[in-house]
Amino acid sequence: MKTVHCIIDKDYTIAEIDDNLYGSFIEQLGRAVYTGIYEPSHKSADEQGFRQDVLALVQQLSVPIVRYPGGNFVSGYNWTDGIGPVENRPRRLDYAWGAVESNRIGIDEFIDWCKKANVKPMAAVNLGTGTPKDAGYMLEYCNHPEGTYWSDLRIKNGHKDPHNIKTWCLGNEMDGPWQICSLSAPDYGKKALETAKIMKWIDPSIKLVACGSAGPWMDTYPEWDRVVLEHTYEQVDYISMHRYYENEGNIENFLASYADMDHFIKTVASTADYVKAKVKSKKKMQISFDEWNIWYTKDEKSSSWIEAPTILEDQYSLLDALVFGGMLCTLLNNSDRVKMACLAQLVNVIAPIVTERGGRTLKQSTYYPFQQVSCYGRGTALKTLVHCEKVNTSLYGEVPSVQTAAVYDMEAGSIAVFVLNCEMEKNTEFTMDLRSFGKVGMVEHSILNGPDLFAKNTFDEPMLVVPKNVAPVNGDKLFKVILPKLSWHVFRFLLEK
Ligand code: AHR
Repeated sequence: MKTVHCIIDKDYTIAEIDDNLYGSFIEQLGRAVYTGIYEPSHKSADEQGFRQDVLALVQQLSVPIVRYPGGNFVSGYNWTDGIGPVENRPRRLDYAWGAVESNRIGIDEFIDWCKKANVKPMAAVNLGTGTPKDAGYMLEYCNHPEGTYWSDLRIKNGHKDPHNIKTWCLGNEMDGPWQICSLSAPDYGKKALETAKIMKWIDPSIKLVACGSAGPWMDTYPEWDRVVLEHTYEQVDYISMHRYYENEGNIENFLASYADMDHFIKTVASTADYVKAKVKSKKKMQISFDEWNIWYTKDEKSSSWIEAPTILEDQYSLLDALVFGGMLCTLLNNSDRVKMACLAQLVNVIAPIVTERGGRTLKQSTYYPFQQVSCYGRGTALKTLVHCEKVNTSLYGEVPSVQTAAVYDMEAGSIAVFVLNCEMEKNTEFTMDLRSFGKVGMVEHSILNGPDLFAKNTFDEPMLVVPKNVAPVNGDKLFKVILPKLSWHVFRFLLEK
């Protein structure tokens, strides 16, 4: 049996975790909106057509912020198509995903949905076919109180109070050749800068996210991030990161995605710090990891120009949920730098929540680790000091066989420890050393594992991949547990008064 020792000390803090670390994403893509969050003919639909069964599942995830309307979609989107009387809204071809966009849902309806879901909106402006002026008009429509053409139009459209959208993305993945009107780094840098100037003049209280490179595998990476930040450093608040992993046949590599994600974050942070020094800024650039997930159907696109095509509807397995848990730990361990993150996406499209048209909802395997970390991962992230053997992976080199993260909620007097055991053959004896906290008691131990790594929840068998609570072990400072091979764990402790 392998042995792992993990020291968690209340003084080894990483950062206060920003609630926005648990954000998500709804794109006008596939069935995310239509028959996802919105389906007027569904039996659970409210007076606006929003599915209340889906709203309930979103609320249970405690998602604080949701990005909208894209994604690739936004780079060809005219936001004015989605406002005003629904019967007058144009049906358009959505070039990004090969679908027809009916525009029955636009920014006003999305804001209404956000209020019902108890989430903040994060809006993206079109910097593909769109101009800085269009972006300014959209912000004016959304946030300016009244007395101008755009703000009065919002009021006329039924929204007297400004939407007050505080976070805005300056386009999406603008170095991707698949992006409508993709740009070179200097061209995007200039366009993002001019857009940022207009937007902050309209509403200085907003926060802006500049597009980082679409991924570390891009030829443009990480030079793109440097050039874009050199243009925009003082005007923007975040640089974005996007990364999707998949099982390419080597499970050890796939499990180590967490280590690669960590390396990616540190590289972008270093690039931003280099630019900070170069432009002589006092500001620390934050990271918005606003697309992360596991994604298999990367090449899917509709070819039939229909509304709400069934595309990108990945089904997630137990193995996917384990890897996903490791990635959540990485976000927590980098919470000094990653101040916002969006699980891409939320409903139907590479999502933890799946719906049947006109029918049931399903929680995928990945729903559970997300819910656990979103609920218990609030407070101060602590560095975990882990003594364990390394696993040699062909893709990412040597990585620890166990990935961990710890969160201390001082007010509640509670500690949460999240653990992914990547060991494939044997059980692991895992000791948590909590002596710096004084006397503590374990109150919960939840395990996600199973005999079939590829088991998936389905509408007929929705509870195949679900975490189970087991009896917490006794201890007061040292807690020794057995981690079965390939398993995800949440331990919760309460400080004794
Ligand atoms: O989330 C799906 C797509 O992935 C988004 O539209 C795009 O930004 C990324 O490539």
